[in-house]
Amino acid sequence: MNTINIAILGCGTVGGGVAQIITEINKELVIRSDAKLTLNKIVELNPTIAAERFHLPMELFCGSGKNLSPQEASAYIEDIIKSNEIDIVVETIGGTSDFVHQLCLDIVASGKHLVTANKALLAERGKDIFDVAEKKGVKIGFEAAVCGAIPIVKTVKENLTGDKILSISGIMNGTSNYILSQMQNENLEFDTALKLAQENGYAEADPSLDINGGDAGHKIILLIKLAYGIDVTMEELSMTGIENISKEDMDFANEIDAKIKLICYAKKMNGDIYATVRPMMVKNSNVLSGVNGATNAVRVNCKYSGKHILVGKGAGSSETAMSIVSDIVFISRYGKQIRNIAEKQERNFADANHFVFPYLITFHTADIPGTTGFITTEIGKQDINIDTVSHNRHSGKKATFSVATMPSTIEKIEKAIDNIKKERPNLLLSETKIMPILY
Ligand code: HSE
Repeated sequence: MNTINIAILGCGTVGGGVAQIITEINKELVIRSDAKLTLNKIVELNPTIAAERFHLPMELFCGSGKNLSPQEASAYIEDIIKSNEIDIVVETIGGTSDFVHQLCLDIVASGKHLVTANKALLAERGKDIFDVAEKKGVKIGFEAAVCGAIPIVKTVKENLTGDKILSISGIMNGTSNYILSQMQNENLEFDTALKLAQENGYAEADPSLDINGGDAGHKIILLIKLAYGIDVTMEELSMTGIENISKEDMDFANEIDAKIKLICYAKKMNGDIYATVRPMMVKNSNVLSGVNGATNAVRVNCKYSGKHILVGKGAGSSETAMSIVSDIVFISRYGKQIRNIAEKQERNFADANHFVFPYLITFHTADIPGTTGFITTEIGKQDINIDTVSHNRHSGKKATFSVATMPSTIEKIEKAIDNIKKERPNLLLSETKIMPILY
């Protein structure tokens, strides 16, 4: 039986969970991986805390359990990279710094397999790491980087390899889903729901990436790479967060039998890949509408096998660690036979403004007779077919109503709004909201 030696860099919430699972269920993992899985080295600045939290023996830590300075930790990491004994390095330091980027490049360049949960690094600066891994014939395991415990990476890369993926849609950020669920179910405003998410330990002290769509964006970029074999940058991805969602939007969602969710969406259409991350009105008939709280869910729609839905925990120590351990077992067993990404395809990444969806448009207007007629006429002039118009909510001299369209593009809707502003400059009182409706 082969021996596979593992090093873990960073023994915090995720790295510590990995070490704990590998030591706790080592016997089973050895049988599953057909290799003697040995946790050799852990590099951690504060081993005492990690050892106690994850029930780990001190001798596993470089420096025999004494606290390390960053310089000492770097020297141990360098030794690991140079070592011929280590087969798999788990990077759980996190972040997109030059240090972590170079570290991951060095790991694969040294001929070692890399396993990581670092979605931001792989999505924003991963291209050269994948390229070097490909040249060296080593593997990058990143199941944990996309929706934590949900086995979506292997599902897309391995299990659906006999199919053609038509689209991927999903709720890929638990914090924003928790906030939206609280707003919709408990009738809260955004700020109150965000505060609750922070109090309950869902949102970070700086929750920007969770609420502005960035974290979800990293995940859909990685899934696009797997499903369609193309690289998309964060700058190219059309992304809107949930910061501007209000209680009023929730009322409009209820009116059309929908729930507002931050949806990652990627679709191949006429040879082009369309992708977006934005709040959508998800119809109650779509299973994603019923996914509440911090839960994640991904729906993959395939040409031959139809729709698949995976629901589960997108974050958490043991949950994310489990995905890393699965990658370790998978790499130990199948090694070079695993593909890192999908076959490269011609890169046709389309402008999200041309993405065809039914949309819900919400107007805040001066409460003047003829307004609804004027606005809907301007929409019709852009060849947009209207499905329904809501009743007007009147408040003082203001009125609010929404228009649900048949499939159209944002480009056409924006043209209609521009024309409304030109024709009647004082009619619209605040920014018009445009949200796709997902059936
Ligand atoms: N912060 C993320 C979430 C988990 O709330 O889903 C890590 O990507």
